[in-house]
Amino acid sequence: MGPLLNSQAGTALTVDNVTKTFRIHHERASSLKQYIASGGRNRYEEFFALRDVSFDVAEGEAVGIIGHNGSGKSTLLKCMAKILTPNQGRIEIHKKMAALLELGAGFHQELSGRDNVFLNASILGMGRKEITTRFDEIVEFSGLGDFIESPVKTYSSGMYVRLAFAVAINVDPELLLIDEILAVGDVTFQKKCMEKFVDFRTQGRTLVLVTHDAYTVREFCDRAIWLDHGVVRRDGDPADIVDEYTETMLGAETTDGAEATRRGDGRIQVTRTELLVGGIPVDRFRNGDDVTIRLHWEAPEPVAQPVFSVTIASLAGAAVTEPSTRDVGMVPESLVGSGHVDVSFAAVPLVASRYVLHTEITGWGRQQVYDHLQNAQTFDVIAGVTNETHGLVTMHPTWSASSGT
Ligand SMILES: Nc1ncnc2c1ncn2[C@@H]1O[C@H](COP(=O)(O)OP(=O)(O)OP(=O)(O)O)[C@@H](O)[C@H]1O
Ligand SMILES: [Mg+2]
Repeated sequence: MGPLLNSQAGTALTVDNVTKTFRIHHERASSLKQYIASGGRNRYEEFFALRDVSFDVAEGEAVGIIGHNGSGKSTLLKCMAKILTPNQGRIEIHKKMAALLELGAGFHQELSGRDNVFLNASILGMGRKEITTRFDEIVEFSGLGDFIESPVKTYSSGMYVRLAFAVAINVDPELLLIDEILAVGDVTFQKKCMEKFVDFRTQGRTLVLVTHDAYTVREFCDRAIWLDHGVVRRDGDPADIVDEYTETMLGAETTDGAEATRRGDGRIQVTRTELLVGGIPVDRFRNGDDVTIRLHWEAPEPVAQPVFSVTIASLAGAAVTEPSTRDVGMVPESLVGSGHVDVSFAAVPLVASRYVLHTEITGWGRQQVYDHLQNAQTFDVIAGVTNETHGLVTMHPTWSASSGT
């Protein structure tokens, strides 16, 4: 295994008893009287996203971090990248670091790709002259060509991540942190990234990678760390850990995110759904955000007057909203081929929780179901404009109270 080669080498990263909590929840006062007695204060519950996490990463190691959705992987990487501060414990970075975390972080939407390269690379510690020297190589690696002059808000998520990766890899970091996002690139780009990772390792550099791709962890990492509800469950040989993790996850499948199921005659189908914030695909956003749901559809033969609708429901099954294109008179005479339909919501009022999206395409009368996709996608809403966690939506309450006679 890799780490043995590095017995002489130093430590690239130390994570020492790191605990990170979020305030996520306040108890509902059981009566108004009690509420007033508490002074109207919200009572928060501390949620442990990471609990007492410790490990060292040696120079030259490639570490894969795996774990179920919400297990704390991104929180851990954000703590490493100093975007979040742990409540307890300490993280020491001994090496020049670059981090590729969420899509959308790090880039300025209105600026061109070119300007963002300069901005981003200088934040990562590169001088202007050096950036100029490297610029062509960065553009070349990104494969963006002339798009480098367009504002990044016009980029697809794939283009976005190509540029972010090209910058991160070209600032010569000795330690690179990557959270999943490479998965949005196409196969060619992923292959290019893997080649870069191999170079990176040969040069004795250190990589910490969050991924849901078992193959990458098995074939590429020296070591796997399995996070389970914020705690390190296993740390060691990637093949063993990935196997055990996969088995555990398959066993637990019914508890998290039900399988997508489809019914209907299939003449036209939703092939894929995306949730977009500022044009960037996400699976989590804040309440109060402007969000677009994109339905990609395909119809081999013309379909008359198809009506698209979406349902946003709580995990308990309550439908929060069910808009359709028919409500707004947006029904074409017929559709054929492929394309997408967007439905946008301004300032989403959903309270922090996990939700599920169902989609449907029907005929005009809505009796004839072409395609019903149950559990097309799950997504999380986190606290934004409101801290409410009960109910389904916020109605933007204002409270007042008086006491005495
Ligand atoms: N800013 C925040 N406020 C409140 N809770 C948060 C915040 N960030 C993360 N959490 C919660 O902390 C837990 C861990 O989240 P994290 O994003 O680290 O998980 P993850 O392992 O990266 O999951 P995924 O595989 O879905 O990316 C989740 O329950 C999440 O809802
Ligand atoms: Mg994550």
